[in-house]
Amino acid sequence: GITRHYKFDIKLQTVTRLCQTKSIVTVNGQFPGPQITAREGDTVLVKVTNHVQNNITMHWHGIRQLRSGWADGPAYITQCPIQTGQTYVYKFTITGQRGTLFWHAHISWLRVTLYGPIVILPKRNIPYPFPQPHKEVPIIFGEWWKANTETVIKQALQTGRAPTVSDAFTINGLPGPFYSCSAKDTFKLKVTPGKTYLLRLINAALNDELFFSIANHTLTVVEADAIYTKPFKTNIVLITPGQTTNVLLKTKHQHPKTSFLISARPYATGPAPFDNTTTAAILEYDHPSSNNKTTKLPLLKPSLPKFNDTIFATNFNKKIRSLANAKFPANLPKTVDKKFFFTVGLGLSQCSQNQKCQGPKNMKFRASINNVSFVLPSTALLQAHFFKQSAGVYTTDFPANPPVIFNYTGNPPSNIMVNSGTKAVVLPFNAKVEVVLQDTSIIGAESHPLHLHGFNFFVVGQGFGNFDSKRDPAKFNLVDPAQRNTVGVPSGGWVAIRFRADNPGVWFMHCHLEIHTSWGLKMAWIVMDGKRPHQKLPPPPADLPKC
Ligand code: C2O
Repeated sequence: GITRHYKFDIKLQTVTRLCQTKSIVTVNGQFPGPQITAREGDTVLVKVTNHVQNNITMHWHGIRQLRSGWADGPAYITQCPIQTGQTYVYKFTITGQRGTLFWHAHISWLRVTLYGPIVILPKRNIPYPFPQPHKEVPIIFGEWWKANTETVIKQALQTGRAPTVSDAFTINGLPGPFYSCSAKDTFKLKVTPGKTYLLRLINAALNDELFFSIANHTLTVVEADAIYTKPFKTNIVLITPGQTTNVLLKTKHQHPKTSFLISARPYATGPAPFDNTTTAAILEYDHPSSNNKTTKLPLLKPSLPKFNDTIFATNFNKKIRSLANAKFPANLPKTVDKKFFFTVGLGLSQCSQNQKCQGPKNMKFRASINNVSFVLPSTALLQAHFFKQSAGVYTTDFPANPPVIFNYTGNPPSNIMVNSGTKAVVLPFNAKVEVVLQDTSIIGAESHPLHLHGFNFFVVGQGFGNFDSKRDPAKFNLVDPAQRNTVGVPSGGWVAIRFRADNPGVWFMHCHLEIHTSWGLKMAWIVMDGKRPHQKLPPPPADLPKC
């Protein structure tokens, strides 16, 4: 592979959306940010310089970072933030991955405007395992607030309430025609009849899973989270924050008389209010030579599932299967060394005396895994681990099981208070790990898009109700399970994942709904070095920021 150099200058840029102008944090003044393109096997160097007042870190979401954990980016997990005026060069090699991923800021809520696509092409002269597309187009979903989002999250954490919901969703940074004052800010996908387009769908929204559809067109899913899948046809795609999905769009053979709406709106089952608006773009056929005027209207609209259609969501997720063939085998652990049962969900905690909390029962919202609401340390876990200075930074007693066993999908227990801590799980190198993630019904059954850094995991099982450790494992798919980096824990159900701990370092796992991360639905895995030199994490680069 070759080395590709990128320069990311973090600076403010004035942007107008929904008739309102505000100054946002951007990369190189672009919104959405620039695309990173590389081939499998290439090394990518991104020189990030911070010219704004906010502390910054960048994350290359879904990039495995094999023995390059120093470049992963979550603030206070693998690095201290890049402070104003500082520069840090992220350096990583892309190994065993090809497809669509994305980069985003990984500190506070700054990823609301700091995000962009990562396109990993196969090695030179290696074709896709599907028809070569005529064109490839990234379709990146975002979420837009009129207010300053750093203020939104700050206030939410201070008052203990749920944060103000967004004012719009966006497609490639544009909200589209269904919002007032926004018709001119509509993304147009111009196509030619009879061609195949590869749409690289990326959900970079902060807090909402999305249904996506194009009127009168069928899509073929061919890849999820930069792993090829068995192709399947669908009219609607479900995509959670943190997920990426490649779909083929075959255009009609003849010029249609109309244009078609491309739209997305939320899948949401949680208790909190959510932004229930629809973002749209337009699929427009180029002008036929005989009649060089496409009829403007009617614009055909797609139909999308109801906002809480968990049945659709579940069936869609079940269709995602890895290729599991000779070229792309599913190398999943068939046996397990370490088993974990994690409950994920919301909870509450008491406010301090001088804080007047306005959450439920005059307390504040928190979220937890096994009732541990994770608190970020003031220095980076990876440095503390590498230099054996964990004292006062983190403890290694993250519970493998919840403190009390109860009926997670039934009535919540009377005590729904969470505990706080900076706790990690230590895994020996190459351990074969299984984690069952169980949604709790505390404060409401809700789908949580759980994201794991540093690995792709296999989704070996999912179901509704309580996980049954006697019966359910017998039904696990150990043949062609989906392999991904983000999975929706079903609302009122569970999902089982497996991965091999072959990547030494400290790896964040969290709900990719940013508000849940802020409330503590996060934890860290520490994977120890192996014995051989190539199984060890190298020392940090000299320019790694200091806290
Ligand atoms: Cu997309 Cu921890 O990140």
